[in-house]
Amino acid sequence: MKQLMRKIAPLSSTERTVEDTTRDAVLEVRGVSVRFGARDVLRNVNFVVREGEFMGFIGPNGAGKTTLLRVILGLLTPTSGSVHIDGLPARHGNSFVGYVPQKIQLEPDTPMRARDLVSLGLDGHRFGVPLPSKRRRLKVDAALAAVHAQSFADAPVGRLSGGEQQRLLIAQTLLTKPKLLLLDEPLSNLDIRSAHEVVNLVAEIAKEQHVAVMLVAHDMNPLLSVMDRIVYLADGKALMGPVDQVVQSSVLSQLYGYPVEVLRVKGRILVVSGPGTEASAPEEEPLSYVE
Ligand SMILES: Nc1ncnc2c1ncn2[C@@H]1O[C@H](COP(=O)(O)OP(=O)(O)O)[C@@H](O)[C@H]1O
Ligand SMILES: [Mg+2]
Repeated sequence: MKQLMRKIAPLSSTERTVEDTTRDAVLEVRGVSVRFGARDVLRNVNFVVREGEFMGFIGPNGAGKTTLLRVILGLLTPTSGSVHIDGLPARHGNSFVGYVPQKIQLEPDTPMRARDLVSLGLDGHRFGVPLPSKRRRLKVDAALAAVHAQSFADAPVGRLSGGEQQRLLIAQTLLTKPKLLLLDEPLSNLDIRSAHEVVNLVAEIAKEQHVAVMLVAHDMNPLLSVMDRIVYLADGKALMGPVDQVVQSSVLSQLYGYPVEVLRVKGRILVVSGPGTEASAPEEEPLSYVE
């Protein structure tokens, strides 16, 4: 019934910013701290991502975004705290978790068609896939359709653009039927148009397949129209909430421990810091969901 309601009445952008606690929590990050040597890279990070939710995970370079993904993927044990996925402790190789890494480096002469790359989602990571059965082919076709890649399904992957390769990797991941989809800076090597396409595609997947999505980016602007909520990471600390409440001069200045100005220009958000930047006085009560 809940699904039906959502289909009939798509939530407006304002309504979307309210956390829907009736949806199942897919990812729970509780009190996670990571220390490398004497340096606290993450300090007591807390947030939850729910079924079908698109979470933007934003922070400057070196903030610890990839480090947190490694904890979620079970590749790094946090110094303290815990991560649960679908109620179970994070562990490496969890098939509920789909992961698209930041760097895709396919050689131009990679001897593989787009559909072969996608089919690796069914076959594990073996190359030289035998002729697929009809059932397998249908699954691969469905995944190609989900990322709108039918038109280049039989093209050699190495010749495709970065954005097209990115979409194929997302399709490959979809075949593993993830409950949680983690994308590490998928937009950083794309032109504006491809970035827009990838963002919309991922948002569509989150809604239609009820996948919890966590998309990492250092610039939040390409995500403003699709993000349900934002996790903003700076100086090891994280804030979570609706974009409008987290991305404010007073809130971010507190997070950075440094004056930060938030400028809104023609629907885009610019976070500036440095000498000469005056943090505005806090305008609101501290956010209740800030942990
Ligand atoms: N295994 C490690 N040992 C020591 N320092 C690390 C390790 N991994 C990451 N770091 C440091 O932690 C900080 C955060 O890195 P990272 O998570 O990659 O940032 P981001 O993905 O936000 O750009 C960086 O200063 C990086 O050098
Ligand atoms: Mg990173």
